[in-house]
Amino acid sequence: MNEFELAAKACFDLHFGYEPERILFAPGRVNLIGEHIDYNGGRVLPCSLSIGTYAAASRRDDGLIRLASADMGGEAVSVAFDELMALPHEPGAFGRFSWAAYPLGVAAKLASAGYAAGGFDMAVSGSLPRGSGLSSSASLEVLTCAVLAALYDLELDGVNASKLSLAAERDCAGVNCGIMDQFICAVGRADHALLLDTHSLEHSYFPFDPGEYTLLIMNTKKPRRLADSKYNERRAECEEALRIINTALGEARPCLCSIEPEEFERVFGLLPPVLLKRARHAVTENARTKLAAEFLSRGDMLRFGELLNASHDSLKNDYEVTGFELDTIVEAARRSEGVLGARMTGAGFGGCAIALAPSRLAESISEKIAAEYREAVGYDCEIYSAKTADAPFAEK
Ligand code: GLA
Repeated sequence: MNEFELAAKACFDLHFGYEPERILFAPGRVNLIGEHIDYNGGRVLPCSLSIGTYAAASRRDDGLIRLASADMGGEAVSVAFDELMALPHEPGAFGRFSWAAYPLGVAAKLASAGYAAGGFDMAVSGSLPRGSGLSSSASLEVLTCAVLAALYDLELDGVNASKLSLAAERDCAGVNCGIMDQFICAVGRADHALLLDTHSLEHSYFPFDPGEYTLLIMNTKKPRRLADSKYNERRAECEEALRIINTALGEARPCLCSIEPEEFERVFGLLPPVLLKRARHAVTENARTKLAAEFLSRGDMLRFGELLNASHDSLKNDYEVTGFELDTIVEAARRSEGVLGARMTGAGFGGCAIALAPSRLAESISEKIAAEYREAVGYDCEIYSAKTADAPFAEK
């Protein structure tokens, strides 16, 4: 057992005083490209990581749910299944459970969807750096699906696990995100990236083999306070842009990413300047993601790296979700010898960026980026090499 499995098991023992039946894992994620378009029906290309969340869990037949966290400390949260089922699916009702709102939201969604789940004890421990934008909440939600599926023998596949996890995140935790994080945390595969069409949910795996390159994850450690309000603002701007385009053209496009870059020229003049920039990011990022998957499958890391750069520039200039810390770390990476590309990943405003660096120089490059970042920003970042892992509902 690794240290996080041991921590989950020790936490289980501390709070519940007996041996857990199962130890399970769900990964965090890093998105290679396709940013801020999973709520615009676009394509995304994330990987599931070897860092994530572990659970020690056992079934209970008395209908009680008890949840404890090795990282958050405090008392275990205890709720009867019937009481949970009586709660309205809204943040107001789940807020009092703090971190446990995620697993409780998932249990409530599973049961409401007709899955025969019931009581359980679960203790969790995570290896994801907190607040880093590597999807700790989606990891915990999908983990809860995996725990309940294992304890209650549920016939739950990855697509439904991610839909129910997303429903819990939106309704019970009140975060209006897209489906990318839950999807990759549910079905990701080691050594692969997943190309997901977030409109149709069609998806396919692409071997992620950067050859003599290493994918660095660079955590700016910038607290992401602004992210939630700006995230919703960007969503609203995209909806407004789509509404204007549909009205002007007399069409009913389902999402911004159903517009191809060539067609976009036609709608250029219709949008006010800010909405034009937001929509242009969505349309071009969607095209970049498709190309990136092609380059990746051909092992053309050079051109893949160029797309990473173009993606960041679009997120910086058109979508305006980067900020000083992310731009600083990305620029420091780009200045480093042999780096093929770098971009922010996730929601932005803080959190993490990625860079494709030659493996033989990865260590010295990381040190150089860290020193330049400290100099410019005044505090330390953290840089790790990304390692991928199987998610609990990985498809073969
Ligand atoms: C967050 C959200 C995702 C996605 C990304 C941006 O991680 O949870 O759904 O929108 O931001 O690509």
